[in-house]
Amino acid sequence: MPLNGKKVLVTAGPTYEAIDPVRFIGNHSSGKMGFALADEFANLGAEVTLIAGPTAQQSTNALKRVDVISAEDMLKACISAFADSDITVMCAAVADYRPKVVASQKIKKQADDLTLELEKTADILATLGKEKKSGQILVGFALETHDEENYAKGKLEKKNLDLVVLNSLNDKGAGFKSDTNKITIFNKALEKTVFEMKSKTEVAKDICTAILKMIK
Ligand code: C5P
Repeated sequence: MPLNGKKVLVTAGPTYEAIDPVRFIGNHSSGKMGFALADEFANLGAEVTLIAGPTAQQSTNALKRVDVISAEDMLKACISAFADSDITVMCAAVADYRPKVVASQKIKKQADDLTLELEKTADILATLGKEKKSGQILVGFALETHDEENYAKGKLEKKNLDLVVLNSLNDKGAGFKSDTNKITIFNKALEKTVFEMKSKTEVAKDICTAILKMIK
């Protein structure tokens, strides 16, 4: 199989950023795309580590699965797995902000409005991009609502990626919870490949094929 002996790291799902012991800030990511990718890499013979935020998804293959909750947990898990990884695909919808203070007890209803102060989380993908050594392949996702292609290309350069996979919320049937996705892939030369709407399993195959082309 083409990826025998290769180590692959995939992130999937959302992250949850605690507000207090019962509440969090999260997002609609289902984890389906990342799990489909992890399964496809395993089908190709790779040794896969899947770092997953809170999700109901189950992997069908034997993977090393690491469950995390917050962006900070995901960052630590990624840093420890990345150095060993030949191919890394960051599919998780990581929170960009988290509450600056996590209340140790449930916040009681106030008489008036409540303001939460948020601080930035670390950009995991950009952190790994800085650590990337020659021979390692790093792939990111971009989910955009407008000016998609320019943002996607900007991410490829800023985060030191080898490929960026763009999915737009403007395409019906693409994105967070659906079983289908419509992607465009940009490589380092900013060459673009546009794909049809497909099941996430088929999309995962297309992404793996694009990565295999770079290895050969
Ligand atoms: O910049 P933006 O968040 O849109 O980039 C999306 C890409 O970056 C995805 O591949 C996502 O997994 C990754 N990301 C990350 N850590 C963050 C934010 C995004 O790894 N804090």
